[in-house]
Amino acid sequence: MLVLDGKIASAAVKASLLQQTQALQAAGKRTPHLAAILVGNNGASETYVASKVKNCDETGFGSSLIRFNDDITEADLLAKIQELNDDKTVDGILVQLPLPKHIDDEKIIEAIHPDKDVDGFHPTNIGRMVQGYDTFIPATPYGVLLMLEYFKIETKGKHVVVIGRSNIVGRPMSILLSGDRPQGNAHVTLCHRFTPKEETIKMAQQADILVVAVGIPNFVTADMIKPGAVIIDVGITRVEDATAKKGFRIKGDVHYEEAITKASAITPVPGGVGLMTIAGLLMNTMKAYEGKFYHN
Ligand code: GUN
Repeated sequence: MLVLDGKIASAAVKASLLQQTQALQAAGKRTPHLAAILVGNNGASETYVASKVKNCDETGFGSSLIRFNDDITEADLLAKIQELNDDKTVDGILVQLPLPKHIDDEKIIEAIHPDKDVDGFHPTNIGRMVQGYDTFIPATPYGVLLMLEYFKIETKGKHVVVIGRSNIVGRPMSILLSGDRPQGNAHVTLCHRFTPKEETIKMAQQADILVVAVGIPNFVTADMIKPGAVIIDVGITRVEDATAKKGFRIKGDVHYEEAITKASAITPVPGGVGLMTIAGLLMNTMKAYEGKFYHN
């Protein structure tokens, strides 16, 4: 049983990016710069954004963390995005989700210039991704592709079952893995909350690669896993635990102890896909910097 260790795979991606930023610095050039906007003080979002900024530091990227109280108006947030769109020293912009209810996510995502949309959420970039064109790939599915590449997991002709259809993970994941690309050409089945549970179970049992992104701890149990399957667990739910230092533990969507009795490979939680999401974001930020977008 192979543990698909996100620390190892993300370290390889980061080492390569660090080499590139060191070469830029040696040549007296500016390095890529990520601007991250955080609205309010959601604990999980705070942790994610802090980790994104820290990883920028570690790879020689510049970063700005722009914080707003959760009563910021939509107009003020849009004005800040416009300012960052116009700032030539900012390569990538991300607005951490979720946003407060009075702000329309759709408007915010569409306001980010597609060439700086390192989350890959802008409809222009999603459209390009669906067509198989070169573009920013949403960070978490991108991280999963980087993980599959690093551990040389073949996807061509394999039956991949994706459980979950979110815009951030499940839907782009299903499109990418079925596309004509190196980590693609798979036969993909997408299950979601309206797939009858017995059907989801039946599909999961046939999966060579099972990608789970539902946000329900222990959703996948041993009986749902085909012997020898590769399991990609995208879940990161905080579960209260008085014995843990922070008062909670991070739980994946897969019952890990059960899954390891059947799987040939599995991503741990934490330490799996979460770290790869950041690797994907950094790769997108380098791509934005290089201005490769639309040119190759
Ligand atoms: N919230 C949960 N995942 C993400 C992500 O990948 N990007 C942003 N901006 N917000 C998120």
